[in-house]
Amino acid sequence: MKKNALIRGMGFYGPEKILTNADLEKVVDTSDEWITSRTGIKERRMAAPGEATSDIALQACKKALADSGVAPDELTHLILSTLTPDTYCPASACWLAEKLDIRGDVMAFDVNGACSGFLYGLQTARAMVALEPDAKVLLTAAENLTSRVNWEDRTTWVLFGNGAGAVVVTGPENNGSGAEILDIILGSNGKFADLLTVKGGGSGWPYKLGEQVKEDFFIQMSGREVFKIAVRVMEAISRKILDKHGLSPEDIDLFVAHQANLRIITHVGKKLGFPPEKVYVNVDRFGNTSAAAVAIALAEAKKTGAIHPGNLVMLTTFGGGFTWGSALLQF
Ligand code: ACO
Repeated sequence: MKKNALIRGMGFYGPEKILTNADLEKVVDTSDEWITSRTGIKERRMAAPGEATSDIALQACKKALADSGVAPDELTHLILSTLTPDTYCPASACWLAEKLDIRGDVMAFDVNGACSGFLYGLQTARAMVALEPDAKVLLTAAENLTSRVNWEDRTTWVLFGNGAGAVVVTGPENNGSGAEILDIILGSNGKFADLLTVKGGGSGWPYKLGEQVKEDFFIQMSGREVFKIAVRVMEAISRKILDKHGLSPEDIDLFVAHQANLRIITHVGKKLGFPPEKVYVNVDRFGNTSAAAVAIALAEAKKTGAIHPGNLVMLTTFGGGFTWGSALLQF
């Protein structure tokens, strides 16, 4: 008997255009060798001109809805997790609602948890279902990060890509089959806020009419510091959720970590004692898609048969803020 909120369906999408490391070599002073050895990234997806975050989200949402059997007009909540919204106002979720042709009694809003955005959104979806047991929540984590990377900054440009993942979340009362969300734990520490930012245009860093954008308009990251803290925190939060449930890494069938850097994923996987085959990796093909990363990885793992019925899956994220989280899903 399932007691917890369920993920009833999933989908993911990456824009068609693929940008390889060789393509980037032509734009900035970098090399396939540097990018591959430092990050494990070989290629990333690039949004078409005019393809906004809500357009990217739309494709993943259509797949998640089809997978769940839930019709758009049954939805009660639409949550879009992103750090690259279409607009400051309205929320990207409102643009997305229009594209999905849903209106009326649907609460549509954005969540910004940076690279932890999917888990922040999933926890919010769970809360909605706890409040309204008949709720049917469409959650998507979507990014158009290439709209906010400085193409002259090789330290960030090579890392990020675009994409979206989506899930439909309902209560167990809806009798659906699906993955049970056993638990989610989240955290943050604003002391580290300055290590990963997109400031320009925000109310703290405003622009005046006619002013040119400066470097602060784009993602700025102190990569080395982020790396060290990410490894430590991702191990700690993973252990915390395992301990809370009396589980050990051997009980986990698949570990899906934030896809920022292959070295981070490998370090954390090793520290937790996972054999490589239990650690899901797609950063080589998508780059870092921030909020979307674990959502894409989860949906891709399910679609390609890396997750089987009965599997226990752990998700762990880390991102700007800093924010972090871990979730346990029972398939
Ligand atoms: N091509 C070639 N050389 C480069 C490039 C590049 N694209 N980028 C940097 N370099 C150079 C640097 O200039 C530096 O040269 P120097 O030694 O002459 O000064 C050298 O390479 C080493 O630079 P580091 O920054 O120390 O390289 P590092 O090994 O730390 O790798 C990286 C950088 C990949 C960014 C890594 O630190 C990282 O992955 N950090 C974590 C990122 C992350 O996890 N983010 C998660 C959250 S993201 C979010 O929330 C949106």
